[in-house]
Amino acid sequence: MDGDGIGPEVNRQATMVLKAAAAQAGLELELEEAPIGGAGYDAAGHPLPEDSLKRAKASDAVLLGAIGGPQYDKLDFSLRPERGILQLRAGLELFANLRPASIYGDLAEASTLKSEVVKNTDLMVVRELTGGIYFGQPRGIEGEKGRRKGFNTMVYTEPEIERIGRIGFEIAGKRRRQLLSVDKANVLEVSVLWREVMESLAPEYPDVKLEHMYVDNASMQLIRNPQGLDTICTGNMFGDILSDAAAMLTGSIGMLPSASIGSRYAMYEPVHGSAPDIAGQDKANPLAAILSVGMMFRYSFDMPQVEDAIRQAVVSTLATWRTSDIMTPGKKQVGCMEMGERVVENLKV
Ligand code: IPM
Ligand code: MG
Repeated sequence: MDGDGIGPEVNRQATMVLKAAAAQAGLELELEEAPIGGAGYDAAGHPLPEDSLKRAKASDAVLLGAIGGPQYDKLDFSLRPERGILQLRAGLELFANLRPASIYGDLAEASTLKSEVVKNTDLMVVRELTGGIYFGQPRGIEGEKGRRKGFNTMVYTEPEIERIGRIGFEIAGKRRRQLLSVDKANVLEVSVLWREVMESLAPEYPDVKLEHMYVDNASMQLIRNPQGLDTICTGNMFGDILSDAAAMLTGSIGMLPSASIGSRYAMYEPVHGSAPDIAGQDKANPLAAILSVGMMFRYSFDMPQVEDAIRQAVVSTLATWRTSDIMTPGKKQVGCMEMGERVVENLKV
């Protein structure tokens, strides 16, 4: 699903890497395309056309580009591109969103933070994706003009916290075994419950060290000492905010991939948006989409060695080639297409 803005161009490069990696690994692929976001609205009058959801459900994995654009800003809220992606997440029950932020090669120089602060950053944000304030009821805008109120509800049930918590513990167990649960338990009841459930799971994962932090402090630690963080498990909105900050540590939001998983379906997408200002100009960084394909091999096809090979190809490519968002002195600048081609050249599964 290409979506809008730079979605189609980054997806084209990611698909090329997907095909090359599958061919080298002896995996047969069947690819289909379906509209979503503004493209869904243009094609079928809805940001998530029924047929697109049906086809996503018939697939082993979905690769999503990006959604949104200024031409859709005036649409009714229910028809905005963002509703499409939220409905797709809900429709596929993708309750866990994994957003790894690590530094590839010598990209630390491209970060807005000092190189020594970020250079060994390797963290994973595990974000709850189908609950919390994004989906809580009641919600709305009510009342007479001038006296209206807008409201949303931040709500988590114990089973919802437990299933994302388990993913957090499992992922941390395969990493450096430090799990940081992020909440706002000094103010919000929903966070008090979140903390209690996380604590109750801890004895089942004795190898993992669980700690808690308030979200305001966590946002500070992310830019103060990101190298001290391993796995962060948090709710939908806190995860949305913290993962954008985490992305910037790595040099550019154009570097951050993600996997959204549930018990049956999976979707892979770059964390960045549709960047309408550079769409169609061959300037976008396709690496987040390409690295998302890497995650697809690990989490959907159970071929972690292919993800390793894709990451390695990205690191080798970055040694010489850079898109403009991560350009530093001494490197050669390329566009979106050439970046994809270089990664394919460097790919050895
Ligand atoms: C993200 C995006 C989405 C979100 C938007 C586009 C609805 O910011 O994937 O982080 O808020 O989840
Ligand atoms: Mg976001």
